[in-house]
Amino acid sequence: MTGKIYPVSEAWSSSAYIDENKYRALYEQSVSDPEGFWGEQAARIDWIKPFTKVKNTSYDPHNVSIKWYEDGSLNVAANCIDRHLETRGDQVAIIWEGDEPNLDLKVTYRELHDRVCRFANVLKKHGVKKGDRVTIYLPMIPEAAYAMLACARIGAIHSVVFGGFSPDSLASRIVDCDSSVVITADEGVRGGRKVPLKANADKALEKCPSVERVLVVKRTNGTVGWTPGRDYWLAEEMESVSADCPPEEINAEDPLFILYTSGSTGQPKGVLHTSGGYLVYASLTHQYIFDYKDGDIYWCTADVGWVTGHSYILYGPLANGATTVMFEGVPNYPTAARFWDVIDKHQVNTFYTAPTAIRALMGAGDELVKKTSRKSLKLLGSVGEPINPEAWEWYYHVVGEERCPIVDTWWQTETGGILISALPGAIALKPGSATLPFFGVKPALVTPDGQPIEGAGEGNLVITDSWPGQMRSVYKDHTRFVQTYFSAYPGTYFTGDGCRRDEDGYYWITGRVDDVINVAGHRMGTAEVESALVAHSKVAEAACVGYPHSLKGQGIYVYVTLMEGIEPTEALRTELRNWVRQEIGPIATPDLIQFAPGLPKTRSGKIMRRILRKIAEDDFSNLGDTSTLAEPGVVSDLIENRMNKA
Ligand code: WT7
Repeated sequence: MTGKIYPVSEAWSSSAYIDENKYRALYEQSVSDPEGFWGEQAARIDWIKPFTKVKNTSYDPHNVSIKWYEDGSLNVAANCIDRHLETRGDQVAIIWEGDEPNLDLKVTYRELHDRVCRFANVLKKHGVKKGDRVTIYLPMIPEAAYAMLACARIGAIHSVVFGGFSPDSLASRIVDCDSSVVITADEGVRGGRKVPLKANADKALEKCPSVERVLVVKRTNGTVGWTPGRDYWLAEEMESVSADCPPEEINAEDPLFILYTSGSTGQPKGVLHTSGGYLVYASLTHQYIFDYKDGDIYWCTADVGWVTGHSYILYGPLANGATTVMFEGVPNYPTAARFWDVIDKHQVNTFYTAPTAIRALMGAGDELVKKTSRKSLKLLGSVGEPINPEAWEWYYHVVGEERCPIVDTWWQTETGGILISALPGAIALKPGSATLPFFGVKPALVTPDGQPIEGAGEGNLVITDSWPGQMRSVYKDHTRFVQTYFSAYPGTYFTGDGCRRDEDGYYWITGRVDDVINVAGHRMGTAEVESALVAHSKVAEAACVGYPHSLKGQGIYVYVTLMEGIEPTEALRTELRNWVRQEIGPIATPDLIQFAPGLPKTRSGKIMRRILRKIAEDDFSNLGDTSTLAEPGVVSDLIENRMNKA
């Protein structure tokens, strides 16, 4: 299958930073001489102490070690703010668009500098030092950006926790990295509804003895609980400190942030990113993949609670002196025309969102799109999951009016920045394909048992050499880092994704091949959902799998075996759904719950997930080998009572 091709337009190839010839030449240089290529590219940021060594990386499973620019020093916040002051102090850095359409705010680089310096001094006043961890549990408000940059300014390590996570999920993330300070808000506002962030944080903190200070942003003025001596209003603290805060000198390999993400086993792991290589990679990819030009208005709709928000709302764009839009709301509030209205309101040139949003808005009908202008748009982007060609075509023809290329960007929390994507002036598009690797990225396909696949074929996606934005470790657990990413296929980084490569060398991501599911672009470990369920007193056993969902990409399907004597009722289904919501957060809410008297297991007691996946997909014509099942009878019962009948 080759499918449709959309060639690069003449206008794009002549105006973009990178055209096809340049892409080929630079890609070739970047992989044959990574030291030379990345040594040159690093000049895009300001170093305090120049590095002498570019790359020092090893994927050897006995000694995984990843270092870039290791003897250089810099300050990430100064690169994102201070160095722009002279030339663009009065330029808008952040356009904040509130949940309500009449609420917005523009923050210039000079104002950003003032806020971040004050915030950094507030952190210092409350005892935060270089290397300390600060947990940020905020809605999408400018203070989230100030908080992250304030940490970067003093060398503290931020851990942003998405505001949709439950008190328990927040608590385990605070405990894992041992934060002494938490930054939150009274309440968040999304889609007209309030989210009780401070109340959640209070509940989480009952389990977090290490936390000494809670800084609270006033967003709604809602009533909140208060622990004197521990809790402080941010606004008052900001007034109490000076606006002068020189940036700390930070080694290139000092940590910038930790971001928790789900894996196939156990609790979420703290993905650790460092400073120099990360910033070089985030800014370079932002400039070339979005072809960011001075003065462009750039909007990525992600939340700063995810890596997309870190790299492509904050660090990449600000390092490039961009104007970046930060949106507090949701795609369908007050109407499903909100995105298109905001594009017109702020004259957005580049718009970067997720397939799940595109599918939902496509379902709302073309009229809502067509009644807006969108003439400012030049480029569209997609991220988070494979985009189905139907949604791609709609995005291209209806939203972009066939004028805007779509960059389908494949990457992960672990990769720090985009690894596979089109460059709009250089690479012809194929709907549904992330196309070709970015500079310095060497993808390869292997069979499940590790045999290399050359040319066209399908297999597991690995990356054979390091790039500067790569995660450096799992926080405080390097062994888990090595086991998760460098043990399956020694000598390579294993992505966890399946992938097809076509005759033109284009990459088509087929989805996760491990026990991670992707629900509306949010990554969920099936193990987390299972452990939440078995913590319920009526549940004996649970197994969670993904199944195809028309809007969310994947939905969450759980099989639950109840304790002896418990009746499987509709009320219990609701109770279990609410339970998981409360334990993990709304994004983990099961879509379908099947009560199963027994689960298919091998004689050694291992649950055969392959079978459960098939049944959840409503595709049980070929269940594969079931001869190793301990009790073959359970399968027919599961099929009979499946929840996803066509
Ligand atoms: C997983 C990583 C990258 C930031 C958002 C998600 C899937 C991501 C694409 C894409 C197909 C994609 C992969 C990947 N994914 N982008 N353009 N095409 N799949 O970050 O939460 O770490 O999830 O998202 O399966 O492994 P994440």
